Amino acid sequence: MSCKKTYITTPIYYVNDVAHIGHAYTTIIADAVSRYSKLLGYDTFLLTGTDEHGQKIEQSAKSRGKSPQEYADEISKTFRDLWDDFGIEYDHFIRTTDDYHKDGVQKAFQKMFDKGDIYKDTYSGNYCVSCESFFTDTQLIDGSGCPDCGKETSVIEEESYFFRLSKYQDWLLEHYRDNPDFILPSAKRNEVISFVEGGLKDLSITRTSFDWGVHLPESMNEPKHVMYVWLDALLNYVTALGYGNGEEKMDYWPAKVHIVGKDILRFHAIYWPAFLMSLELPLPDHIGAHGWWTRDGQKMSKSIGNVVKPREVVDAYGIDTFRYFLLREVPFGQDGDFSEKALINRINGDLGNSLGNLLNRVIGMSGKYFDSKFESDSDLFTNDMNRVHEIIAGLESHIFKMQIHRYLEDIWEILAIGNRAIQSSEPWVKIKTAPEDVQALLVFVSNLLTKVAILISPIMPKSGEEMAKSLGIEINEDTYKEFITDQALLNSFVIEKVSALFPKVDKPLMAQPEVEEKQGEADTEPELELPEDGLITIDKFFETTIKIGEVVEVEEIKKSKKLYKLRVDLGEARPRQIIAGIREFYSKEELQNSLVCVVANLKPAKLMGNLSEGMLLAAKDENGLSLIRPEHKRKIGTKIS
Ligand code: MSP
Repeated sequence: MSCKKTYITTPIYYVNDVAHIGHAYTTIIADAVSRYSKLLGYDTFLLTGTDEHGQKIEQSAKSRGKSPQEYADEISKTFRDLWDDFGIEYDHFIRTTDDYHKDGVQKAFQKMFDKGDIYKDTYSGNYCVSCESFFTDTQLIDGSGCPDCGKETSVIEEESYFFRLSKYQDWLLEHYRDNPDFILPSAKRNEVISFVEGGLKDLSITRTSFDWGVHLPESMNEPKHVMYVWLDALLNYVTALGYGNGEEKMDYWPAKVHIVGKDILRFHAIYWPAFLMSLELPLPDHIGAHGWWTRDGQKMSKSIGNVVKPREVVDAYGIDTFRYFLLREVPFGQDGDFSEKALINRINGDLGNSLGNLLNRVIGMSGKYFDSKFESDSDLFTNDMNRVHEIIAGLESHIFKMQIHRYLEDIWEILAIGNRAIQSSEPWVKIKTAPEDVQALLVFVSNLLTKVAILISPIMPKSGEEMAKSLGIEINEDTYKEFITDQALLNSFVIEKVSALFPKVDKPLMAQPEVEEKQGEADTEPELELPEDGLITIDKFFETTIKIGEVVEVEEIKKSKKLYKLRVDLGEARPRQIIAGIREFYSKEELQNSLVCVVANLKPAKLMGNLSEGMLLAAKDENGLSLIRPEHKRKIGTKIS
């Protein structure tokens, strides 16, 4: 088994507040990837921790009448306790107030300075304390608002040391070009590239207006200066491995992936690689940027009182279901919405009906028909098992490309194969005529479940273990190799009865947030009936490209009362010809030069002998037909999502 070094990190969390769903999300993704990597036999190191310096923390501590250190100790512990209670298998928990970290940061500063990458000047800029970040005048909202969090910024002018970020602009662009997977998912990569192409200014990396930070190396004799919190924070990824301090674990560097939220991608995909280039250290393989969570469609905020507290969810529903929900509900990189209803749907649907039920059927049938012991070497299900192995072959790349939702979707396809096999074999009928076929079926489904138990264990460790116990196997890197890599199959099983894995949840189990609601609204809202099979994933929806277009020509089609031949400009080499049945509802004048929404990736088709290269979006009811148009003018060719 390979002992490839794999280093995975979460962001280090600010200690100005306790953990919410966003923190749990990043940490759980990282833990899942790390557990998977360990299962593959890789020598894996998972780092998490807390970010404890900076003006924001200093202010939070002060407002509570505490010293920054006291306050940081207290909150840092709540993070560590939470991860311990959630069973997060981190290999090290770093605190930026740890001495070895401060030492490493000073060594890094010195190295960059000696290299000529740091110089002294005066800085004047708009600073947001909450985001610990400077913004240019043009970035501000209404002259003074922070573009990231909306809070008031203040103008700061002070003597500062600068990092020559501008020097690294071309190297960074070259790196993004040569390593298309550096930033995941790829949609985020383009944002970063355009930002860098827009021009990088040198970065102010020290402050004199407060004291709660890492001081400059003593040799520099600058007692007033403390380091910019992001320089201090980003360096945690190497100081945790002993950078500048014995280098004990530096053989884990470079990181396989830094998992971060989209709001801090800029720091990780631009500043951090530039710092690393300056330190002459290799760059991480990937920066994976995930989206943001809202609750019940609303932004979470302490003032509204709707922040999702991970501990409350886990106390009510258990850690595995929470982990599954977070990783399955939202494609990595996209924003997601937490609602108890959606969580319960996942528990009763995917987990209860598909996974739990399949194991229950094996436990039930084998108990009833074969005293829980069965065996078969029949090849009745060889084709089905080949399909299972085919799906498994694509799973590893999903994980390391951060496509964990796809990993799970594929596992659920495997479960569907198992459930379908039972349905179509009708074992309850066959048991009378061909019991050996029922044994063959049970062996097939149990083999399938063995693989699923191993594969879901990084995502749902407890459920994986419970399934493994029932099937009489163990989950470790040897069984991963045996059943997943080498595709081994067992000919016999002795099933142990375990209690139902995901009992049905009939009603919400969490205390409801006290969010102000308009009277009467909450109770009267009817249940939404969603079609069980007809639901599609967001990926499927995005297979359709819808764009804004401008109608540049309208012509009647002679033999038709209903059709117009339109030319619609989508910002392409030429306008498209679109045949639309809207003549009864719109005059030529109403259409000319108006904006429309066009399905742009439809196969061209002929309508009354005329080629149509797209379709307009419209809604029709008993009052007539209305085209769907953007509410405000938007650029031609803009994609709709
Ligand atoms: N301390 C910095 C990170 C330094 S890493 C060298 C920081 N800390 S944080 O505590 O504010 O945020 C940590 C993570 O939580 C970020 O990745 C951020 O994106 C994530 N989230 C904060 N709110 C979130 C949601 N509502 N939803 C999802 N994740 C969000 O930034």
